[in-house]
Amino acid sequence: MLIKKDIESTIELALKKYLVCPEDEGKLNLQIGGFDNKMPYGNAKCEKCGKVYELNSGVFYFYDGSLENQILKPLKQNYMNNREPRDAIIDMITYASNMIKALSLNPEQCAQLFEIVQKYRYDIEAFYNGYKGTFKVPKEFIDSVKTELKDTIAVECACGPGENLENLLKFLDFGIGCDISTEMAKKTNKKLLEVGNGFAFQGTAYKLPLRRDSVDGFMIFNAFDRIPWLRKLVKEIDRTVKNRGYLLIGGCEPPQWYSPADPRLVYVPENQRMTTDEIANANGFNEIKRRLCPWNVTSILDGYEKLETLVLFSKRGDVK
Ligand SMILES: C[S@@+](CC[C@H](N)C(=O)[O-])C[C@H]1O[C@@H](n2cnc3c(N)ncnc32)[C@H](O)[C@@H]1O
Ligand SMILES: [Zn+2]
Repeated sequence: MLIKKDIESTIELALKKYLVCPEDEGKLNLQIGGFDNKMPYGNAKCEKCGKVYELNSGVFYFYDGSLENQILKPLKQNYMNNREPRDAIIDMITYASNMIKALSLNPEQCAQLFEIVQKYRYDIEAFYNGYKGTFKVPKEFIDSVKTELKDTIAVECACGPGENLENLLKFLDFGIGCDISTEMAKKTNKKLLEVGNGFAFQGTAYKLPLRRDSVDGFMIFNAFDRIPWLRKLVKEIDRTVKNRGYLLIGGCEPPQWYSPADPRLVYVPENQRMTTDEIANANGFNEIKRRLCPWNVTSILDGYEKLETLVLFSKRGDVK
């Protein structure tokens, strides 16, 4: 059960121990405006640059939505005017694809636009409870690394509705969820606050509002081929994970760096791409466990899909 006092203290702890301004790592000062259904609203202001981040229904918003509002505004009307959710998603993808072709956008501009498109898609998926089958690291895999996970602080980026992180809270000391989709972040946040030792925020994985050396573990599954600035994400791993920390990551195989229907529609520019193996072994991490795991997922856009995720566990420093 969610208890207002506990929620408030987790939010305060989040700001004290983990969150900083994603622009300049400045300290954030919390201002709670009130409570809505036990969830606090208000904001956090950066002491260094003065930027203000909104806190809404207990979730901090770090990803700037202004571009989304400008570019996809006409389509938001569709979504709100009771258009069928799948049709609303397809309208938006078609609109973005036409824009890319009409303006001859380069791969970087294209990837930037698709990031916003994705946020919008996953907001719809989560809002209508359409995304089912969040990838969960299988029990046997967790069992084989559970002494490494035990009592650690870990972040999961692109966490979707949060079932994987919720499951791992049994072992972790504290879990932090991050998703670019506001609706996904809300779902995860609610689950983690309910368990009591975690929270989630809305933000982008390559520009994290997390303190340097603040986590022991970094997780991300089935999102590498949708993160436009993947190499920046790898730098964020380096910045945020402590010495001797671990990575528990997975990529859907094979990755889809661009639209299968039209290679001009690029999700990740060529010079940003890295394989799951390369990411697991960058920044002084060394792979110690791997397994190809089944992933059965259903979404509003793609329906039921039977996929495979390559999961890797790696540790920083010498590996026995
Ligand atoms: C295919 S789903 C994967 C969700 C979950 N990890 C799983 O494996 O089932 C991709 C998720 O990545 C999120 N996402 C996409 N781009 C992101 C970004 N730049 N930063 C954080 N999350 C992102 C989406 O909102 C969505 O929830
Ligand atoms: Zn700042």
